[in-house]
Amino acid sequence: MVRAAAWRKLFLFLVLLLPLCSAADVTYDHRALVINGARRVLISGSIHYPRSTPEMWAGLIDNAKNGGLDVIETYVFWNLHEPVQNQYDFEGRKDLVRFVKTVAEAGLYVHLRIGPYVCAEWNYGGFPLWLHFIPGIKFRTDNEPFKTEMQRFTAKIVDMMKQEKLYASQGGPIILSQIENEYGNIDAAYGSAAKSYINWSASMATSLDTGVPWVMCQQSDAPDPIINTCNGFYCDSFTPNSDKKPKIWTEAWSGWFLSFGGRAPYRPVEDLAFAVARFFQRGGTFQNYYMYHGGTNFGRTSGGPFIATSYDYDAPIDEYGIIRQPKWGHLRDLHKAIKLCEAALIATDPTNTSLGPNLEAHVYKGGSGVCAAFLANIGTQSDATVTFNGKSYHLPAWSVSILPDCRNVVFNTAQISSQATHLEMRYLTSNSQDSDQPIDSSKASQSDWSFAVEPVGISKSDAFTKSGLLEQINTTADVSDYLWYSISIEIKGDEQFLFNGTQSNLHVESLGHVVHAFVNGKLSGSGMGNSGNAKVTLEKPVTLVQGKNTIDLLSATVGLQNIGAFFDLWGAGITGPVKLKGQDGTKDLSSDEWTYQIGLKGEELALYDDSKDSSRWVSQPTLPKGRPLIWYKTNFDAPEGNDPIGIDFTGMGKGEAWVNGQSIGRYWPTYISSPNGCTTSCNYKGSYSSDKCLKNCGKPSQHMYHVPRSFIQPDGNTLVLFEEVGGDPTKISFATRQTGSLCAHVSESHPSPIDDWISSQRKVGKLGPVVHLECPYANQVISSIKFASFGTPHGSCGSYNQGNCSSDSALAVVQQACIGAKSCSVGVSTKMFGDPCTGITKSLAVEAACS
Ligand code: GAL
Repeated sequence: MVRAAAWRKLFLFLVLLLPLCSAADVTYDHRALVINGARRVLISGSIHYPRSTPEMWAGLIDNAKNGGLDVIETYVFWNLHEPVQNQYDFEGRKDLVRFVKTVAEAGLYVHLRIGPYVCAEWNYGGFPLWLHFIPGIKFRTDNEPFKTEMQRFTAKIVDMMKQEKLYASQGGPIILSQIENEYGNIDAAYGSAAKSYINWSASMATSLDTGVPWVMCQQSDAPDPIINTCNGFYCDSFTPNSDKKPKIWTEAWSGWFLSFGGRAPYRPVEDLAFAVARFFQRGGTFQNYYMYHGGTNFGRTSGGPFIATSYDYDAPIDEYGIIRQPKWGHLRDLHKAIKLCEAALIATDPTNTSLGPNLEAHVYKGGSGVCAAFLANIGTQSDATVTFNGKSYHLPAWSVSILPDCRNVVFNTAQISSQATHLEMRYLTSNSQDSDQPIDSSKASQSDWSFAVEPVGISKSDAFTKSGLLEQINTTADVSDYLWYSISIEIKGDEQFLFNGTQSNLHVESLGHVVHAFVNGKLSGSGMGNSGNAKVTLEKPVTLVQGKNTIDLLSATVGLQNIGAFFDLWGAGITGPVKLKGQDGTKDLSSDEWTYQIGLKGEELALYDDSKDSSRWVSQPTLPKGRPLIWYKTNFDAPEGNDPIGIDFTGMGKGEAWVNGQSIGRYWPTYISSPNGCTTSCNYKGSYSSDKCLKNCGKPSQHMYHVPRSFIQPDGNTLVLFEEVGGDPTKISFATRQTGSLCAHVSESHPSPIDDWISSQRKVGKLGPVVHLECPYANQVISSIKFASFGTPHGSCGSYNQGNCSSDSALAVVQQACIGAKSCSVGVSTKMFGDPCTGITKSLAVEAACS
């Protein structure tokens, strides 16, 4: 018996594996991608492999699968894989094959966007710097040297995938590939060569014979057989350039990226769900969230300029890999609703009828009796009641209701049934307690700091002299963020009047991104650009002495430009003029002889790597603080448990940080965002844009930095910082990412839980609307109910209040159902709670804690 059961299990397992192991035929038609002859409705999400760690991949992909995704999309990052021409690197976070296989193991498909231009807020848009130095090269146009390299890299990746049998045509998970990226947005700037370049890209890609379709996003003239696709906050009104191609949305922006100096963008899930539902309502069949997990820009990978180290993106899975609720849960419910409509969606085009001003019904009615309907209220002001097929439906403003049987609403984009959770960083204290307030590292366990001074100006033997001011990227080839511009000037007797004393000003103009000016070894001032304008103009009073004076200008890049026509040529660094302005005259130094040093002495010595020469480090009772150009080092033990780790860099200025020799990215907690324009509760109704919903005004754009668990061991870890402007490393604190309270707020007018509809086999949900709570960790149970009110409660998670109407029994009913359980469901109805106010639609709000 046991044997038979085991065999049955094995057989089932093999059958389940079958779709991914046997070759699949992937084509497309007017309605959808067609896999093995069947049109498919596919939900996809972007997870970029180098923005997390191999140790995180399986968990992220699992969360994506449980969130209802069928496909994982990633770009391929050329500059990561080929840092030096013809020298490839596919190790660790760069292990593309392992990533694709991890997706396959979860039973999901892959969309591989090779680019190789990727934009992606990634350094130089993904191009390796050596490409820029190929004689005669012009990027992204009909240029032989460029096309040769683009083809070589694209073919290299395709070959790798083929060798590992990763294309669906070979039994692998890759069902789709992308060539180029949003070239159509800027191609006008490239003149007539743009068209031939795009045609070449298309035939080059097609000739690689992957056996699966290629797409080009934002490329309305993408030639056959390439599918042109849409990117944006909304893509419902997009149509592909041929009625033989399906309507595909390659980037549904789930939020937006963060810049140093910027406020933190977020996108309400009601609006994101609305955008996605509208897309499927109006004929779409493939949609990808950009990003589903954004992650972290480790090292110097962030683009820019000024892209922050966090690439959280307000995505359904947060930077640390934890599901963001209710975003993740509400979208999961949406995906289930869409999947219930799949048979109807693939059967036919929708028919569209107006139900009134701003009110639309789209019906998919297939020959075999399948029927699905989407009802939309695209008005932003008022809810509506519509009549559809003789039945009355309530449609909240800016929402879509999904009816998988053309009768019953299983989901409305504005009505969130999913629980919300509060994610927070808990700081670690020395006595293993945690706190929501930062703790100085001097008081926590990490207290012993040593330091090494980075010299001002020229200190390396490979410095060189040139007349005039050099553009930075051409000079450094981006091997470092830093380039020193150094000059010595004589203030002669007759110039004394001009420049001696406090009346002289140093004037420096730079293409970006940051300049620190040192005069006679002392920092006289710093200037920086911002994400909208990278240029820096610095004008600082300086004190010169008679005789010799040194001016050392440290220019730093903060991620190379990744977007725009000819972005590769925008440049950086101090291209001048550089002048000394005295009371009655000016001395222009721009064409003088300058001495240059690429990178820092500490970078040359690899101070960030503890295994290298440690003789440079100084330990003394008083640690120098608040001084520019200094390296700091300390040891620390891993915070207990498995929760993701963050370091709070409050107290530091600007620089880069390494944990056990691995760079966790640039830190810059002193770059404060504008104090204006933030909202705590952003109205989701109406068109979203990247500056519509912002938080974190007047605060550091980023103070917390992710350290993946796999970067550290239980004890004896090293943290090294290079600080440019001055800070106090003892103020740094360690924290872990934890899930706080669970909350839910569901009204009587919400649909029944979608799982209820599915399990009751498409009959009207038995339960009616339900509050469902579930503790995030396996070993937890609900330990207390902090708030429960049935009636007209208001407020948000963490600050709910009772309204005028409230049932007396709410707390007791919820406690009874939930305390001690890992999860609980409570019906939202007067049957459960009695009726505290007849004639009013009531809701149940609950906040609970797990332990
Ligand atoms: C798109 C681009 C993506 C990313 C996104 C913004 O235009 O294709 O790579 O940069 O914008 O996050």
